[in-house]
Amino acid sequence: MKPSMKAATFLLASGLLCTLLGRGNPLSCEVCSSDGSNCSGKLQTCTHDEDTCITILTEAKKEGSLVVTSYKGCAKSSECDSGFLAMTMNPENYMGSTRRCCQDDGCNQDPLPAFVKNHTENGLRCPSCFDTFTETCTSTQDALCVGEETHCVTVTGLARSREGLLKFADVKFAARGCGTENTCHSKPGTLVPSGSHLLTIKKTSCHPSS
Ligand SMILES: *[C@@H]1O[C@H](CO)[C@@H](O)[C@H](O)[C@H]1NC(C)=O
Ligand SMILES: *[C@@H]1O[C@H](CO)[C@@H](O)[C@H](O)[C@H]1NC(C)=O
Repeated sequence: MKPSMKAATFLLASGLLCTLLGRGNPLSCEVCSSDGSNCSGKLQTCTHDEDTCITILTEAKKEGSLVVTSYKGCAKSSECDSGFLAMTMNPENYMGSTRRCCQDDGCNQDPLPAFVKNHTENGLRCPSCFDTFTETCTSTQDALCVGEETHCVTVTGLARSREGLLKFADVKFAARGCGTENTCHSKPGTLVPSGSHLLTIKKTSCHPSS
């Protein structure tokens, strides 16, 4: 076979395979991100490896000020856990984030129901810290765990500007504190939009708190 024929055969075969194995059309999802408990944007076509529409609602307190952030977009199912993540560093720095993943065109158009983070102390405590430009941080004080946060969690990941207009490099961060069991099991790639930043969790490690 001539090389060009080979290439043509390969293209034809992979085209057939895609038709047989993949969905006929790429998925389309609503895409938006804004402050507040709701956002709305246009339907956009996802890339080929994005098989999931996602909706995320995050409530974060950072140095005492509370921000609620909504995010909708395309995602990979391998990076999407439906469920609630929560982590507390101290009463002035915590976050709660709920997300829903679905697999049909435009299925993320409904807003997520608002949630109330349980702030009642449960008697457990964990080492806590937060630092940027690093994959480790050293605890200087204990966090008092609240609600369903029964694990001591270490999370590392990347933070980028949510606006995406200024292409700053991703910044590493490390956080330790109390977390829910769901937080321990977050998949690498899990997104947490928070205020002006979009955090991507790379790694979590956990142990039960004392
Ligand atoms: C949330 O979004 C829905 C659907 O776009 C809209 O009908 C509703 O008014 C919005 N609510 C708020 C509080 O913005
Ligand atoms: C809030 O958390 C506390 C401590 O874990 C627990 O006793 C209480 O039942 C929780 N409240 C709700 C409404 O879940």
